[in-house]
Amino acid sequence: MRAAEYPATEHPATERAVRAFVETYGERPTHLVRAPARVNLIGEHTDYNDGFCLPVAIDRELCIALRRNEAPELRLVSEQDAVPAVIPLPPPGLDTPVSARAPGWVRYVEGVAVMLAAESASRAAAGSGGSRAAAGSGFPAGGGLVPWRGTLASDIPVGAGLSSSAALELAVALAGAHLAGLTPAPTELALLAQRAENLWVGAATGLLDQFACAAGVAGHALRIDCRTLTTEPVPLPGGLAVVIIDTGSRRQVVTSEYATRRAECERAARALGVAALRDLTPRSMDEAVARLGRSARSDGTTRPGGAAGGTGPDPVALDPVALDPAALRRARFVVAENARVDAVAAALRAGDAPTAGRLLLAGHRGIREDFEVSGPELDAAVQAASAAPGCFGARMTGGGFAGCAVALVDRSRLTAFTDAFEPAYTALTDRRAVLHVCSAVAGTSVLDLG
Ligand code: GLA
Repeated sequence: MRAAEYPATEHPATERAVRAFVETYGERPTHLVRAPARVNLIGEHTDYNDGFCLPVAIDRELCIALRRNEAPELRLVSEQDAVPAVIPLPPPGLDTPVSARAPGWVRYVEGVAVMLAAESASRAAAGSGGSRAAAGSGFPAGGGLVPWRGTLASDIPVGAGLSSSAALELAVALAGAHLAGLTPAPTELALLAQRAENLWVGAATGLLDQFACAAGVAGHALRIDCRTLTTEPVPLPGGLAVVIIDTGSRRQVVTSEYATRRAECERAARALGVAALRDLTPRSMDEAVARLGRSARSDGTTRPGGAAGGTGPDPVALDPVALDPAALRRARFVVAENARVDAVAAALRAGDAPTAGRLLLAGHRGIREDFEVSGPELDAAVQAASAAPGCFGARMTGGGFAGCAVALVDRSRLTAFTDAFEPAYTALTDRRAVLHVCSAVAGTSVLDLG
């Protein structure tokens, strides 16, 4: 049997959102916001290490049809939930206890409203100053707080690692900003959405998802520098298909494991003497590790190679990395992964799909063995994809453990690829995958419907 293919729905999300608006509110919406999903080609778990990533904004989108509201509230009806999001304006303060924040998807909507309000307040207090997220002219005092009502339709699978929550945050942020007459840059929108995720939802994620969904460029991957917040579009060769493989697996452990990995990376950076792992190359990391090993040995506290054990004072207190092989392995992965981002970007620019594919496979090996955030279904998908005809390489994509893999496939051999992949994956997992041959689209946008 052939793998099922996205999109599963007959009507696009744009159409469903507008139709739902008319049915719900008995009038036409004035605006339509569209926010794409993203898939990350390479550069995983590098964003919170100030590093590089190479995502693509894809043609699976979340749409909000909306118009101004008389009542002082933001009201959003979703096709996926009988209970709407209703956020009073002004929204709750940042000091609201977690237990009093909205549950589920509504918390993302609420979080963006809270951040828009916080930006306005910090602008008002600081004159032309304000926080990093308020930099530029995008969110002046009082901006982004116009009440509106809307309807939400989405073709982005939830929990699959394609950033359905970032798309929601960005759509809500742009809706509010646009109605207030503001034109924030994609960077400003992404930072605001990230703050909603970090400070309100409570997930300490990096900027990858929000930046990709905000700043995507049609036909291109986007090289993001997460320290300088600059982006560079990298053209995708025409003969190359980016295929997303939804393994059908979903896991709950992601948030806690994510926080652990992030802490391990930060610990390793401190021990290696850099502000962030971004500041190391594979060679300078080797040198830093050798220095660390020398000083550890001269203390007589660790065995060569950094294995735990021995006698004497508590070695952990003296040398956290030499005795924390896990943190060292995480760091090695991140440093190598940062280097792979530029290597994949160069290969794509040169139209060298085989090299790009090999780098993706190397990335997957690293994430499985050193970073340890893969999962059985993701490994099976990569194994089945890379053995299928026309495939240059594949890897898991996103936070990890479950969700989606991404494969680079020769466009002229897509049918042979799909035909071979499906039975191979099912034989390994007893599951059916959903494939999506995706196009690279532009980032979050708003349309005036007149
Ligand atoms: C999740 C996070 C991102 C990023 C990826 C891993 O998607 O939201 O910030 O860290 O995991 O690359």
